[in-house]
Amino acid sequence: MASQVLVAANRGPLSYVLGDDGTLGARRGGGGLVSGLSAALAEQPGALWICAALSDADREAVRRGVSEPGVRMLDIDPTMYDDAYNGIANSVLWFTHHHLYDVPREPVFDAEFRRRWDSYTAYNAAFAHALAEEAEQGARVLVQDYHLALVPGQLRELRPDLRIAHFTHTPWASREFMGMLPDDIVSRLTWGMLGADRLGFHTWEWASHFAGGATRDDAAGIADSFFPRDGAPGVNHRRLTGGRYGEKRFTEVARYPLGVDAEELRALAHRPEVDEKLAELRAEVAGRLTIARVDRTELSKNILRGLLAYRELLTVHPEWRGRVVHLASAYPSRQDLKVYRDYTASVAELAAEINAEFGTDDWQPVLVSVKDDFARSLAVYRMADVALVNPVRDGMNLVAKEIPVVSEAGCAVVLSTGAGAYEELRGDALTVNPYDVSETAEALHTALSMPAEERAERTKRLAAAATALPPAQWFRAQLEDLG
Ligand code: G6P
Repeated sequence: MASQVLVAANRGPLSYVLGDDGTLGARRGGGGLVSGLSAALAEQPGALWICAALSDADREAVRRGVSEPGVRMLDIDPTMYDDAYNGIANSVLWFTHHHLYDVPREPVFDAEFRRRWDSYTAYNAAFAHALAEEAEQGARVLVQDYHLALVPGQLRELRPDLRIAHFTHTPWASREFMGMLPDDIVSRLTWGMLGADRLGFHTWEWASHFAGGATRDDAAGIADSFFPRDGAPGVNHRRLTGGRYGEKRFTEVARYPLGVDAEELRALAHRPEVDEKLAELRAEVAGRLTIARVDRTELSKNILRGLLAYRELLTVHPEWRGRVVHLASAYPSRQDLKVYRDYTASVAELAAEINAEFGTDDWQPVLVSVKDDFARSLAVYRMADVALVNPVRDGMNLVAKEIPVVSEAGCAVVLSTGAGAYEELRGDALTVNPYDVSETAEALHTALSMPAEERAERTKRLAAAATALPPAQWFRAQLEDLG
């Protein structure tokens, strides 16, 4: 019989809202990680998802004993949670892995950082203890992301019988950026990660950053085996010995590039509410070409340089004025952090400047949408002539994969070399250095000028690459490899 499956992730498959009358309602959790995992776990009867209570309503649900089958929410002290999630995961690990620091000022590792790090350690330990308590003998545990980088090591100490995997959905920092962290913190992260039997990443690049860094740290022993750059997903690996465990135990590092479920996405994109949004958007755009982007407003998404590139396009190639509309969906994210709020405001300001500079009575050059509206995003996908996906750095970027699958007339994808999707889509995308605004403006021009047949042909190949490893298969591959 197959062994029990447990998943640990900061965000759960649902969250609660507290009504005015004190009743609790359940809502589906947000974000790519959640939708991918939910689909994959639907195939695993009896699986358990351990997540954190993210809000007061979630904590209230835990206290009242409200829960959904297959989900266990951990009621973590709110201050400790804030330190771990906002203070370390979002402000330190996210910035490190995405190379976002504005280095004349940041990062600063002081006593306050140490205090937050202790909270991060305790928050990870809460997950490790819950997993140790719930797991049957020999169960398979799949730990998700930078929020829980210490869990594999902590869990291994509590339950050496378990098969443990960890998957990183973000990039992994280069050695230079990792080297900004205090040495003992790097060692702790390496130690935590090497507690796993298998470590998964979206790309070879992220996997090799981890493996290269780990073998320079004394938490790891020797690097071993092979790390080929081609071949089927999930079969190529590197083995690291976890030296600190005093036993000959290997951690395999592998790539599992998450893809799109074409059938499901196309069905979602053709629901009546999407048709309605599409009709509205078509009326607004009035037959012009469209450059589309859909992102959460993350600093890593590079929305500002995307707008600067669009401005340069309209300046250097004035023939496009009045003939193109930039549909920029930028949904709110992590608004607890001031740096995110400021960034969101800058996006709105720059879009308004562009509209003021170039707009005419019957043409608004940029339409910004800040409401998280999935039906509208799918409508944008269907009508996009050009997709702008220019993150500074991104674990995968599923938008780059989703647009070609849904696009109706074919869509030219302008893609950053910093996106994980670059590894699989580079052949048919127009690739750009995310910092090079002029190159991005020229790529937009090339994309808008691309003959329809070429666009359609490239889109077919992009869609084939994008659907190579849909979520259910991505998850199954990791489970099987875990043994
Ligand atoms: C993005 C990243 C994931 C991460 C998630 C967390 O989707 O790609 O790696 O887990 O953000 O977002 P949250 O809103 O939970 O902070």
